[in-house]
Amino acid sequence: MPLPAHLTQRNGELYFEDVALDHLAQQHGTPLFVYSKAAMLDALSSYQRGLAGRDHLICYAMKANSSLAILQTLVRAGCGLDIVSGGELERALAAGCAPERIVFSGVGKSRDDMRRALELGIGCFNVESRSELDTLDAVARSVQRRARVSVRVNPDVDARTHPYISTGLKGNKFGIAHGEVLETYRHAASCAALEVVGIDCHIGSQITESSPYLDAMDRVLDLVDAIEAAGIRLHHIDFGGGLGIDYNGDTPPAADQLWPQLLARLDARGYGDRKVTIEPGRSIVGNAGVCLTEVLYTKPGEHKNFLIVDAAMNDLPRPAMYQAFHRIEPVKPRAGDPAIWDVVGPVCESGDWIGRDRALTVQAGDRLAVLSAGAYCMSMASNYNTRGRAAEVLVDGQTTTVIRQRESAADQMRLETLLP
Ligand code: LLP
Repeated sequence: MPLPAHLTQRNGELYFEDVALDHLAQQHGTPLFVYSKAAMLDALSSYQRGLAGRDHLICYAMKANSSLAILQTLVRAGCGLDIVSGGELERALAAGCAPERIVFSGVGKSRDDMRRALELGIGCFNVESRSELDTLDAVARSVQRRARVSVRVNPDVDARTHPYISTGLKGNKFGIAHGEVLETYRHAASCAALEVVGIDCHIGSQITESSPYLDAMDRVLDLVDAIEAAGIRLHHIDFGGGLGIDYNGDTPPAADQLWPQLLARLDARGYGDRKVTIEPGRSIVGNAGVCLTEVLYTKPGEHKNFLIVDAAMNDLPRPAMYQAFHRIEPVKPRAGDPAIWDVVGPVCESGDWIGRDRALTVQAGDRLAVLSAGAYCMSMASNYNTRGRAAEVLVDGQTTTVIRQRESAADQMRLETLLP
């Protein structure tokens, strides 16, 4: 199977751009996340090509990977940011994002978060319930600002993805049900401190087909027809994120293929003049990162062979949470017949696995690269078992920059106090 872009085998070693991964692991220790700037910018440019010539804003969904240097790279390349918490708002600012290029998503924004975002003048709140609308109106009045809002609608389409990351179906907590959207817009338009500017939808994540997007577009545009017929003008249409990546032979449409199709529908329905906002996360950073880990022990057994590595579910939570598949490749492949291994971490849980039944030729001390680890790994990492979070390195050609130091035990205990 071909390797993700900018990851190559050279002289029997795995390289990210022009940097040997084994050397990086030796220098900085493991587990270590390594990102390729070129891979990130290539993924972004596919969207930029797909939306070229249109009034658009690509708000990178920073929940996928919110490390400051990653945000900074994408902001410098023209991205706005999609945030879901007050913490993400502060990160967005720290990374240099202009507040008006921020959209604020999520079902549970706090009053404090709303206030701060209003004072900064963010671009848009994507509102998910009637009571959130009322709270936002009240908070905006209290700080004498007007909140620009979109209502997140639930188009009730099946994104055909993992149930935990499917968000556009009726049974989900997300968005406002189709039948209640018009009434919600009427209400929003009547709130003095709210300014209705758009409509928003996001149907799920790791979507590997075009059809859910095309269906959602049709359903959203039906709503736009009705809302505008009621005299409420929508300046932008936000189609969320969700485009999948290739983890294991998956074949999602490329952004520069999908978007021309979606724009053609917009044109056909008479909305070609509207600004298009999108919130991609995984598809920008997912295949731009790997996690390097060292084999601590080999533990062959009667029923299973285990490779115990120094990365764990606290670093790479996706297999434990979603039974997700990440390819695992030796950083310096060695000759010999492979054995079948379960690759597991040191955490005291049977759920702490990274890959199952993998054919690998390895010995203790070898290093492995867990691929497609740029999205929803570091940003979901925890300190379970008091494991410090991994260090991160950004590669740009031959240049490497440590963008996050390894977390120490002292870092983890900093906010705690012993009893007197
Ligand atoms: N916009 C909204 C409102 C979202 O909820 C999400 C993701 C995105 C944009 C970005 O979606 P993306 O382009 O990254 O698919 N932790 C899970 C994924 C959770 C996605 C949550 N929402 C995983 O590791 O697969």
